[in-house]
Amino acid sequence: MAKIPREVIDEVRNSVDIGDVIGRYVQLHQAGKNLTGLCPFHEERTPSFSVNEEKQFFYCFGCGRGGNVFQFLMELKHIDFVEAVKEIADDSNISLPEQYINTQPKQPVNNENRQLFDLHDKAAKLYHHILMNTPAGEPALRYLKKRGMSEELINQFGLGYAPAQRILKPYMEKQKTDYQLMRKSGLFSEDQEGQLRDRFVDRVIYPIKNGQGQVIAFSGRLLDTTQTDLPKYLNSPETPIFNKRRTLFNYDVARKAARKDGKLYLFEGFMDVISAFGAGVTNGIASMGTSFTEEQVTIIGRTTNQLDICYDGDEPGQNAIDRAISLVNDHRPGQLQVRVVQLPAGVDPDEYVQQNGAEKFREYLANQEESTVDFYLRFFKNGKNLANQNELISYLDQALKVIARVTSPLEVDMYLQKLATEYQLDKQTLRNQLGQLKQQLGIRPRQSAPVAPPTVDYQNIATVAAQQTTQRLNRTELAEQILLRYMLYDREVWMHVTADDEFHFAHEKYQTLYLLAASYFTEHSDYSAADFLDYLTDDRLRGTLGQIEQLNIAAEADMQVVDDCINLITQQTPLSEKIADTRAQLKEANSLNNTELATQLTIELVKLLKQQQQLKTEETN
Ligand code: GTP
Ligand code: MN
Repeated sequence: MAKIPREVIDEVRNSVDIGDVIGRYVQLHQAGKNLTGLCPFHEERTPSFSVNEEKQFFYCFGCGRGGNVFQFLMELKHIDFVEAVKEIADDSNISLPEQYINTQPKQPVNNENRQLFDLHDKAAKLYHHILMNTPAGEPALRYLKKRGMSEELINQFGLGYAPAQRILKPYMEKQKTDYQLMRKSGLFSEDQEGQLRDRFVDRVIYPIKNGQGQVIAFSGRLLDTTQTDLPKYLNSPETPIFNKRRTLFNYDVARKAARKDGKLYLFEGFMDVISAFGAGVTNGIASMGTSFTEEQVTIIGRTTNQLDICYDGDEPGQNAIDRAISLVNDHRPGQLQVRVVQLPAGVDPDEYVQQNGAEKFREYLANQEESTVDFYLRFFKNGKNLANQNELISYLDQALKVIARVTSPLEVDMYLQKLATEYQLDKQTLRNQLGQLKQQLGIRPRQSAPVAPPTVDYQNIATVAAQQTTQRLNRTELAEQILLRYMLYDREVWMHVTADDEFHFAHEKYQTLYLLAASYFTEHSDYSAADFLDYLTDDRLRGTLGQIEQLNIAAEADMQVVDDCINLITQQTPLSEKIADTRAQLKEANSLNNTELATQLTIELVKLLKQQQQLKTEETN
């Protein structure tokens, strides 16, 4: 297998955004210039993992891991470099010439997937063209416009029209598309003689995309549902690239928007997502058809920790909200917070936008957002006559069972107050009742939500503390980091330092980085952290580069600072400084109960103190 040329690697890496790729596995939030989240490589409860989109690398302050997009996948999936490059290339539809790729049995499958993506892409473009530019598409375009859709919105979602006259098959045949591929695509149905026919006929076409924005299926809606028994919506069947249970409409766009808004909206239908988008709510998704699945919950949980369910307020809508809440609580307890925005009965989000306009819709979302407890306090009233004492008692029992799961004492108090006021009851009695219920349900007082027990990694905390405040590095190391940072980014500094043949860094790792950078610059004229990271095969080195990249220092090098750094590095660190530094570290390790590290540091400290003692005796002698 030949080595993949540097240019190809760079092209593949530059074809994706690291935030996008990592965002598929880690829930990321914007924090200043960076994205942050919980590190996927070590246990933690507060985020120390950060992704720098500008420089296209990630770095974890907790475990010190860092790297570019390839190294992220390698580490996460335990794959080798070539596999990581291939994975990104596949995603981006870049074909790597055969000689670089192991011909493993997996290969033809991926190739087939790529052809299926391609086929869907072509079909989507054809349907869209027919809708927008042909007489055959006119009725459908009129229909969509009547539903309040602008051309901009139609283009955004790539909507199309499959005309009554079957056109997809001849179109694909003219392009010499493979019969087996067409058969597998799900875009055709097969008659008894094995003849393929277009599946979508006289329907508005909604392309369904995967998380990377590739079209993987279609849903087709009838223009007129009154004259026929045909289903209103017809979806592609499951195919190698389309798994309904794992697919969410508009997820590719919404997950990015969710980073800013901090949540996703779950709607029932495609039209709701599209209308909400038109109203400025771009972080809306919908499941395929009416069933919301466990797999979708998992996918959502990776993107955000708040999901707002926004369904029609009629009875089926409320039942669906109840099911969705249960599904999340069963599969992501304590991690994905659910809120509810229940619309007026008989109105779906799309209709709400059409009737009241974009602004009112956004206001509604903001003002009517409620907790799941509030939802259930209302939901349990359905079908009960609360003037009847028995039914009221059964209602209160259901309500208290939900309140029993609430962990915040303040919130509990609010809900009890609500019930007390609404039904003229004594709050203390309700509280006593709640206490009893908790005992029955085995909920200990003040027990927190059913989250996994915290696993505290003291070693990591020590490292975080040590790395987040750079002053924890001793002065020499800090100087080495600053110098290397300026050398990498500033040609002039590089020349200045390398002019001295004798120069070398005090610590092995910086010296190694320096030598690797020298070899990097023989192949590249400009520095890019993401490119350079491919030269670093050692994860400790990548972590160190991550630290250097994260240094909060002026972008422009000051030559005085550069020279100070050089001087500091080339002269030995005084013993007294080493001692002070070790003492500080020891104090920290002790306060974190990290006995292992503390022991190690104590040994170190004793050694240093002995050296100092020896020097002193030498001096006095
Ligand atoms: P419009 O009637 O175009 O506004 O769509 P809607 O989203 O309001 O439809 P509805 O509330 O009836 O259904 C919600 C979702 O259920 C739709 O977006 C579809 O995904 C799905 N759905 C509805 N009808 C059918 C059907 O006949 N077949 C299938 N497979 N799915 C359907
Ligand atoms: Mn609708």
